[in-house]
Amino acid sequence: MTVIPPLSNGNLREAVLPPDMLTDAPLNCPVTLLSSEERHRLIERAFLGLYRWYVDRSQRLRNWNPDTSFAWRDMRTDHTEDVVQLIEGYFAVEQYAPDYTSEILRVVRRSNGRSNFQLRWGAEEERHGDTWENALLFSRGRTPAQIEHYKWQLRVNNWTLPWDDALHMLVYTVFQERATQVNYLKFAEIARGESDTPAFAGAPDPVLARACSMLAVDEAAHYAFFLEGARLFLYYFPEETLGAIHDVITHFAMPAQDIIPNWPVVAETIYRAGTYGPRIFQRDVIAPVLENLTVAGRKALDSGLKHARAIPDPNGNMRLTALWDTFDAGEAERNVIRLHDKITDFEGSMGRAEIDPFLFQSNPDWQAKTKE
Ligand SMILES: [Fe+2]
Ligand SMILES: [Fe+2]
Repeated sequence: MTVIPPLSNGNLREAVLPPDMLTDAPLNCPVTLLSSEERHRLIERAFLGLYRWYVDRSQRLRNWNPDTSFAWRDMRTDHTEDVVQLIEGYFAVEQYAPDYTSEILRVVRRSNGRSNFQLRWGAEEERHGDTWENALLFSRGRTPAQIEHYKWQLRVNNWTLPWDDALHMLVYTVFQERATQVNYLKFAEIARGESDTPAFAGAPDPVLARACSMLAVDEAAHYAFFLEGARLFLYYFPEETLGAIHDVITHFAMPAQDIIPNWPVVAETIYRAGTYGPRIFQRDVIAPVLENLTVAGRKALDSGLKHARAIPDPNGNMRLTALWDTFDAGEAERNVIRLHDKITDFEGSMGRAEIDPFLFQSNPDWQAKTKE
């Protein structure tokens, strides 16, 4: 007899039954009629394929080293204290990579694709901290002793999850990765001497600019992975996912602000530099992320959820019908089909498809739901 272990972390609700104990549903069955376990099994299979695809791409295209891939000796040593402060601030945020990784792992540990991805992701975040440490060191803006002391101060505190369930964390990381990418792209403009803000204009530094750009490319790749994950959940669990998107937007803050000792100074510098702020968050983070998730907008999501929560079904669940206007179901399905094609191509190229084909579960109801 199979003994089913209890959900020890209480957070990742998938795999309540071992996958081989689930009955295979026909592939033309609308996903919303599948059991929760069956849907989680399909999500898990997609994450496994996506993670393997990601690793291949990461190794081929982004296999750089924070020490040897940059001409650190050529870095400018006359940056203003503001620029040094920006480097130090980003160094601080990336310093918590071990906490980010271990804490998130805790809530996704039962998922092979997701937990292995977090290890790979953690290694890419770790090199960001090392890159910023080199930038700080070679800029001569901080002495080795100052950096050691600051690092010690940072490491006294432990970052903890802003949300303690896997779905909210997945959605949180979508917004967080996008926000980090935006910060680094804007810092790259400063480093190229192209800032619109006079205090940060001039003084181009190709080494710093390259560092910012390399990190921004990593953040874009992370964003793309988590976005695909959120799209999967939107497809298989639309009510829960729309609710999580709403919650995350409402309470979003960049990670570790509350534990970085000099955060007020860092935040003020970031704001003055124009690399991040409420307007940028609204325009360059929320708007494009919602668009990529096919969500109509913050207001539509607000009123759709209010409506859905006001008239729950007899089991107390939100009704999907009240949420149709908040997202584009047809496009949401096409996003999952595109992901499916990407994974299928990859698995076809290395031979897995011949032994363990990845089959798409269509959702016939949704195809007619494309908005005008
Ligand atoms: Fe990072
Ligand atoms: Fe990242």
